Order: sequence, then C-alpha cells, then structure tokens
Amino acid sequence: MKYRVFLSQFARHPLELGTFTQSSRVLARRMAREIDGAHRVVELGAGLGPVTREILRRLPDNGQLICIERNGAFCRALRQLDDPRLQVIHDDALQSEPYVAGANCVISGLPLTLFDEDKRRRLLDIMSKAPKCVQLQYTPRIALEMRTYFSNVKLKIVPWNIPPALLYVATQAQPTPIRQVPRRTCRSPLLLSRKNG
Ligand SMILES: C[S@@+](CC[C@H](N)C(=O)[O-])C[C@H]1O[C@@H](n2cnc3c(N)ncnc32)[C@H](O)[C@@H]1O
Repeated sequence: MKYRVFLSQFARHPLELGTFTQSSRVLARRMAREIDGAHRVVELGAGLGPVTREILRRLPDNGQLICIERNGAFCRALRQLDDPRLQVIHDDALQSEPYVAGANCVISGLPLTLFDEDKRRRLLDIMSKAPKCVQLQYTPRIALEMRTYFSNVKLKIVPWNIPPALLYVATQAQPTPIRQVPRRTCRSPLLLSRKNG
C-alpha cells in the first residue's frame, strides 16, 4: 500500500522525491541510529515516515522530532503516527532554519543533487546550523560541496536498499568564509577521507 502511495507521488513529483521507493527498514534504522541520544531532532523530507518511525523508537520520552515535508499527502500520512513527541510541518525545507537552529541533529532525505545550486547551498547552510547532520544520497556527487559547510564529513554505504544508499554524516560547521561552493560537485568519495586542516 505504502509502495503504491510513494510511487504515485513519484510519478507526479519525480524531482522532489528523487527515487521511486521509500527507504528500506535497514536504511531507516541506520539513519535513525545516528541521532545518538539527541533530544531535539529535525527531519527534512520525511516522506511516508520510515526514518521518522525509527527515530521515534530511539527518541527519549521527553524528546522532540520536527518533520518538515512539502508534500501534503506525505504530511497526512506522517500525522497518523500520532505521537506527542512528533510535530509535522507542511512546508519547504527552506523555511526550516528556526527549527534546525534549536536541534541537536538534523536528518535529511532531501534529494539535494536534484535541486539547483542556489537552493542546495541555502539548504546546506541551514543544515549546518545543527551540530550534526545526516544526509541521504544515492550518488557521491555532493561530497565536496558538503565539505564546504562541514569540516568533518564521513561517508557510510548502506547496500541494503533500492537503490543502494550513501549516508553523509557531517559535524563541525565550517566558518562562513570557507563556504565557496566549487563550480563542479565532487564525483569521488575518496576525497572524503581527506582530513580538514
Ligand atoms: C527521497 S524522498 C525520502 C523520503 C523518506 N525520508 C525516506 O527515506 O523514504 C525525499 C523527500 O523529500 C521531500 N522534499 C523534497 N523537496 C522538499 C523540500 N524542498 N522541502 C521539504 N521536503 C521536500 C519529498 O516530498 C520526499 O518526501
């Protein structure tokens, strides 16, 4: 059932969803594990909530999870989770700065590489307001760009998903002057292993 809902939304908004199927349970658990004791978590692009559910399983009783999702059908599904710790906001992630700034961790399923450069930069800038950011992607193309916003970026591969997924786990926001985005995004994940000086 969820598969059909996701697929029909993908047919309508392919560039907003970026993939025709939601995250597998393995991938969702792997992402949620990264909250690592955080109390205040923001999820950008929550979709039908596979990662949301796993975050809620790990969130303390007094924790708070704010999901920002621009698709109305997905927001309705997320609200059915009916958890007092969960707040679902039907809006563009570009409006998420006040929430991200107060969070310990931001988890993003946004298809960043499908957005234009300006939007991607604005979103990365917002995400870097949180001490930790976990970004789901399916290609290594975002690596170099992420390093202009965070000095510590680790790549984790999750093969048990269709398609196999990459998680960028980023901490330590860069100071503003370093945020000059290169003209071309990186195609090699090897650059990620470089330590920032
Ligand atoms: C690849 S899907 C990920 C869905 C879910 N997190 C998962 O792992 O299955 C991308 C999600 O980002 C949402 N999205 C795309 N652009 C957005 C934006 N500008 N603001 C908020 N949500 C957005 C889409 O509606 C979709 O739910």
